[in-house]
Order: sequence, then C-alpha cells, then structure tokens
Amino acid sequence: MCGIVGFIGKEEAAPILLDGLARLEYRGYDSAGLAVFGEEKGLQVVKSKGRLQALSDLTKAGSTIQGTAGMGHTRWATHGVPSDVNAHPQASESGRFAVIHNGIIENFAEIKEFLQNQGVKFSSQTDTEVAANLLDYLYEGDLLEAVSKMLHRIRGAYAFGIICADCPDMLVGVRKDSPLILGHGEGFNFFASDVTAIIKYTREVSYLDNDEIAVITREGTQVYDSYLQPVKKERHHVDWEVSAAEKGGYAHFMLKEVMEQPEALRKTISPRLQNGQVKLDDLHFDVQYLKAMDKIYIIACGSSYHVGMAAKYTLEKLLHKPVEVALASEFRYCEPLVSEHTLAIVISQSGETIDTLTAMREAKRLGARVLSIVNVVGSTIARESDDVIYTWAGPEIAVATTKAYSTQLAVTYLIGLAFAQMMGTIEKEEYEAIVNELQLLPEKLQKVLEQREAIQYFASLYFNHSSIFFIGRHLDYAVGMEGSLKLKEISYIHSEAYAAGELKHGTISLIEDGTLVVALASYKPLFEKMMSNVIEVKSRGADVIGLTTEDVGPEMMKTVDHIITVPDTHPMLLPSLDVVPLQLFAYYVALQRGCDIDKPRNLAKSVTVE
Ligand code: M6R
Repeated sequence: MCGIVGFIGKEEAAPILLDGLARLEYRGYDSAGLAVFGEEKGLQVVKSKGRLQALSDLTKAGSTIQGTAGMGHTRWATHGVPSDVNAHPQASESGRFAVIHNGIIENFAEIKEFLQNQGVKFSSQTDTEVAANLLDYLYEGDLLEAVSKMLHRIRGAYAFGIICADCPDMLVGVRKDSPLILGHGEGFNFFASDVTAIIKYTREVSYLDNDEIAVITREGTQVYDSYLQPVKKERHHVDWEVSAAEKGGYAHFMLKEVMEQPEALRKTISPRLQNGQVKLDDLHFDVQYLKAMDKIYIIACGSSYHVGMAAKYTLEKLLHKPVEVALASEFRYCEPLVSEHTLAIVISQSGETIDTLTAMREAKRLGARVLSIVNVVGSTIARESDDVIYTWAGPEIAVATTKAYSTQLAVTYLIGLAFAQMMGTIEKEEYEAIVNELQLLPEKLQKVLEQREAIQYFASLYFNHSSIFFIGRHLDYAVGMEGSLKLKEISYIHSEAYAAGELKHGTISLIEDGTLVVALASYKPLFEKMMSNVIEVKSRGADVIGLTTEDVGPEMMKTVDHIITVPDTHPMLLPSLDVVPLQLFAYYVALQRGCDIDKPRNLAKSVTVE
C-alpha cells in the first residue's frame, strides 16, 4: 500500500530514489512521484499517473531534477482516483511543504473543512494534501514543532516523508501503524518503507516505532517521540543479498519465488530440527501454559488465512485443543471469545497487514498470548508479539505469495510437533514419522516443480475459461482455497473453492458442459468420498483436473480428464506439495492471458489500510 523512500547525501537524489522506488513498486503502482530539493531550483515536485516507468521517462531517469535531498513515492490509491494530481508528493498550497504518505488519515475530512475555512485551497482529492496543508498551517518557523502538533491532530495509520523548503538539509519521517525504516550510511542516510529499497546502499537499519519522528540529515539520524523527546534506536544489520530481491533470470518474481520454495523450506525447517527433534529456540512456552490453553485462535488474511485453515486440521489433531481460524478483518468486530488461556497465532508474511495487526492488538487486549509467524524481520507484528517465529523465505516481491505461504505452513507443522511433544499428545512413532517426512519435503517439492511443463500444458487448455472451481475435502479443501485465490488474483478468472461435499447443496447448479473443476484428492482417508463428488461433477459435463498422490494417481485417472500427482508423504504435510501445482497453474494461466503477473490490477503486496 504505497512505497516511500527518502535520500539525503552528496550524490544526485533522483536516480537513487527511482532505483529505490523500482524495488518498492510491488507496494503500489498506479502513480509515482518525486520531490527533490536543489540549490538552484529549490523544492521541485514531479509526478505521473501510471507505472514508475512513466515517471522515469518524464524525468529522463531522474536527470532533469537536480538536488541531493529528496523523496519518492509509488502509490496504491485510497483517496482519489489514480491521476497526476492525486499522485504523491502532495505540496502545501504555499509550496513550502512536500509530503509523501502511506496509509489513511481517518479524520482528514474534518481537518480539510477546518483548513478550507481558513482559506486554504486544495487541488487533489487526497488525505495527504490535507496533511501537507495542516503542517503549513501549524508551522511557525520550527519544523519539528509543526510535525509534533500535526501528529496530535490526525488519526489513522500513516508513514509520512516530509520536506520543508525552509530546511533543505533535512528530511523528516514519521510513522504510526505503517512501516518506516531508517537506513544509515557514511555521509548519506535514508528512510524507506522497507529494506529492499535501500539494501544496495546500506545494510545498517533501524526500525521506527509508532508515533516516532525521525530527522534525517547527511551526517546522521535522530529520532524523537511525538513530544520531541529524543529516543535511542537500536541498529540492525541486514544480511540477505541484493540478488534475493532481483529476478535472477526469471521472467517474473512469482516464478522465481515458486522455484525457490525447496530452498526456502530447507532454511525454515533445517535449523529447527536437531537429531530428529523439533527445537524452537525462538519460543518460550512451558508445558503448564500449553496444558491450560483453552483454545487457539489463528488470525490472518488472504493466503496467510489459508495457512490457518490447513493448520486448524493439523493443530487440532496434534494438540487436542480447539482451533478457531479468524479473518483478521472480522475478528475485532465479532466479539471473539478470548481469555488469558487463549493462544492467538497470528500469521503474516509482511508483518504489517493492518487488519492483522489491529486484530492482534485486540486479542492481546482481551488477554490472549500472541505467537506470530512472520517473514519480515523487525516488522510491527513481529515486534508487538509475545513470541515470534520467523519464516526464512527471504524477500518476497511478487504480490501473489508463494514461498511465504509454504514456509508459513512449515512453521505450523513445527509448532504443532513441538507443542504436541511437550503436552504428550503425540505418540513417539507418529512424531518420528512426521519429522522424517518433514526433512524430505524440500526434495519432494523439487520433484513437483519438475512437472512445470505438464502444468503449463493444462493451463494452455483452460486459460480462456471464465470460471474455474477448486474442490476438496479436509486439508485438500484448505489447499483448494489457496489455489483458487492464486488464480483469481493474477489471472482475473472468476474462481471458487468449495468443500466438495457442499457442492450439492447449491453450487453444483453452476457446473455445465466444459466447466473446469480442479479436484484435490490427496487426503487418503477421504479419497473415495472425494471421488463420488468428482463423479457428480463429471456427470454434469465438467472437465476435471485431478490432483492427488502418485500412488493413487492411476486410480483417479480412470475418472478425470487430466491428472497431476505429487509424491506421497505424511497426510499432514500434503498441503505443502499440493499447493505448488496450483501456484504454477495460476502462473501459466495468467501468462497465457498476458496478465501483469507480479503486479496484478487493484492489488498491493502489503495491505496497510483497513
Ligand atoms: O503479509 P500478509 O501475509 O499479512 O498478507 C496477507 C494477505 O494480504 C496476502 O496473503 C494476500 O492474500 C496475497 N496477495 C495472496 O497471494
């Protein structure tokens, strides 16, 4: 939901900002802009509707705007349609302030009205222009005073970058519930929405907390709380490689990330398995707590929620405790039954999804202990949880998640096994069998990836369908939900995931000659029941692609039109293998349809508005 980056140093800012924005474009891509302060021309603002390339063309790769301090923005529209005028930076009417913003100012309408009554004229529909003009209104010669006063007047979620023409040697960054980091260099410094924007220049970062104000100069950075009291920040070293955030020869980030899954799984699982035992050193649970637990609430959105759907089956089986899975956007409003014996497992790739973050805070407020599963180190959800366990998927750039989903799933297995062993709810043989299979998962997943061409062929047969169904039972149903979301998200084909047994209660009326149904039937205890449902849709004219394990593939092939198989494994781990053909299917369908795979329409990677 909008990417922001600011640079101040000795080099020309615009090319560096454009480079940073290119790495943040996954956060929003409907318009982009730059504000740069130059000695000759003062504060210059250039912006353009459309992809970053349009801004780059407009500024001749940044060469037409001179200055060594500036900031850039790539937008996912909230207030006002994507247009040149609504793009950020937004300048105040006097031109003294330029502001970039990620988030939403909830009380912008009342502030706008107040400012209009003071005679201020607005040219955009954005809440950001309200912030720029409010700053100007509050400014009495002291920039930080004005920022502090503004923070006490606005409500909502935001990360702001601010330049004031009166203070050309500093940038100001502010955050509340939207991410903002500082990057520290020698003679230059940055702020940015995330590390990918600045890792080419520095690996030393610090994370701003809510209501903090950062002053960034060439010489250094200083952070204050909202009352302008200095705050000391810890520095962190980022150790992943720049190449991790580049395509590395693949046509799309999504394909690269799909192919990286065996390695991502290895990195997530191996360090946590020692001599056949799951060791979660990152967690601090004791057996009394686990035994007294009244239930587990899994809270997440989108694909992370689908991980939760699969985890419900496995955690209930392993821990003999009720597990409820909640859409984070609903959780706060459904009067959840949470006590001090409730464990909330919060799942988020970005660690910044505002729905998930606010639901997590509500769970905490109600007394739950929070264990989060997060990919982005230092993100807000990670920092506000009681315990965090990181997925080591590396940076995920494509909007459609793949390797983060897989590593999140893996972490749910690890948590289930570790807790079950502590609680004594798993037999030794079963524990060992799962751990063994867990170790083999990356290898087996590699085998699934080798079927790329066959999956591409199936995609070429069905890419022009207007509606595709995914059906399954139990864990297969949970995976079908993810397969369906992947397809919708990047190919724009309508799709539904259905519990196979539920079809006959209404939805089967949509099945007609040639409708494509992807039938997941890898969960053996329900194979026969699932096949009955497959026959039901076949009898109504559906084309069926079956997805099951190698050993029962020939049996399923007798009924379906096409088959995709995955190596057999412990039933609990099957989602990790089954999801991969569905990711590839969605990818190749979208490719055939000429869709913008890494940046699908209307979406953004990190959703920081409610
Ligand atoms: O960063 P999070 O895991 O919290 O994000 C949650 C969803 O927005 C995310 O999984 C979304 O559904 C993906 N784009 C799906 O591919």
